[in-house]
Amino acid sequence: MDIAAAATVFTDPRAYADNERFHTATALLRRESPVHRVEHPRFNPFWAITKHEDVLAIARGSDIWLNAPRPALGPKAKDAERANIPIRSLVQMDAPDHPVYRHISADWFKPAGVRRLRDRIAELAKRYVDHMADLGGECDFFVDVAAHYPLYVILSLLGLPEDDFPRMLKLTQELFGAADEDLARSQDKQAQMAVLMDFFIYFQGLIQDRRENPTDDLGSVIANAMVHGEQMGELEAAGYYTLIATAGHDTTSSALAGGLHALLENPDQWGRLADDPALVAPGVDEMIRWVSPVKQFMRTATEDTVVRGVPIAAGESVLLSYPSANRDEDVFDNPNTFDVGRSPNRHVAFGFGAHYCLGTHLARLEGQALYAELVSRVRSIELAGTPEYTETLFVGGPKRLPIRYTMA
Ligand code: HEM
Repeated sequence: MDIAAAATVFTDPRAYADNERFHTATALLRRESPVHRVEHPRFNPFWAITKHEDVLAIARGSDIWLNAPRPALGPKAKDAERANIPIRSLVQMDAPDHPVYRHISADWFKPAGVRRLRDRIAELAKRYVDHMADLGGECDFFVDVAAHYPLYVILSLLGLPEDDFPRMLKLTQELFGAADEDLARSQDKQAQMAVLMDFFIYFQGLIQDRRENPTDDLGSVIANAMVHGEQMGELEAAGYYTLIATAGHDTTSSALAGGLHALLENPDQWGRLADDPALVAPGVDEMIRWVSPVKQFMRTATEDTVVRGVPIAAGESVLLSYPSANRDEDVFDNPNTFDVGRSPNRHVAFGFGAHYCLGTHLARLEGQALYAELVSRVRSIELAGTPEYTETLFVGGPKRLPIRYTMA
């Protein structure tokens, strides 16, 4: 593979569904061209940043590197459209608005806030492992377990009724799997706008309800939040819900399913978890590093600057490649080895800096609850078919993970 071929991985959704192609290509880029200019007819040009140190430095430098106007990579048409989409969420904001809006929900995501959900999460984890037992020894771990469980956790946090969960599941998959034929409602732009509108209409109803009948959940906090002394607008509140419902869902589903795939390919690592429950916590972090479900976010320079000796002009955008940074040989010993006891594990799968993932504690808690339950109750487990990964430019992991197992 030459460098030009390697650089196609960022603009080709199939590359993220092919781990070997992606990691071979980005290892080459880290070595030969770690700040690489990508030009492609369907995309506005950008610089691909593949080294851990550079991803951290840019993420930290939010004084000159902004999320607006191009927070993530999409085709040219999407860049143009973004300006017209009425819903603006945290990932599209910068200071001074960003810290104000982030503050609204930040307490709910701190360890103390998340601990409130500990029992509910443990109950949901148990429910899904019970469900595996009921399925009688064969299932698709992504479709039957990983796709549902994190959404149920996040919707419980928002305070949504369980009856609405299946509808949210479908909408999130349509939104994030938009580049994958199996998941997208349709490939055209109007269909994707329609998914956003469905989200909006749903959450508009929720906002009205929580304004009239406030309850003790994050949903009510958002519906009644004050910004600069005024109640947050409906569009903004709907954007907030949509971000939380979507950001907390496919990301964690992908990490949990991709983590199990890694364990099945490395049965000794499953054995280590089963023998020593203290390894579940670092094991879950290793799954998150390994899968790096968020494939990229972008930043745009507000002034001329230099990254690793490469001049970048004001107005140009960089793509932060988290999955590449998380296999950086300069930071991780044996980066292509899946090691549930890895320590230290300074992965950047949750990003870094001002936009650092709000859901880290929740995601870790969910993962730990599910894997503690799994390794203590599943006696044997193996692949029962070929796993398939989502074609995506943004968030993804396995979309099919057929397994066969016996329960203890
Ligand atoms: C932001 C990854 C789970 C909510 C982000 C970012 C990444 C990320 C890479 C951008 C960080 C940056 O720009 O520096 C992940 C991964 C997850 C996960 C890998 C699971 C394994 C969750 C969960 C929630 C959540 C469970 C809960 C709702 C958010 C929010 C933001 C965010 C609200 C935007 C923060 C901001 O812009 O200020 N996440 N996330 N994430 N995440 Fe997560």
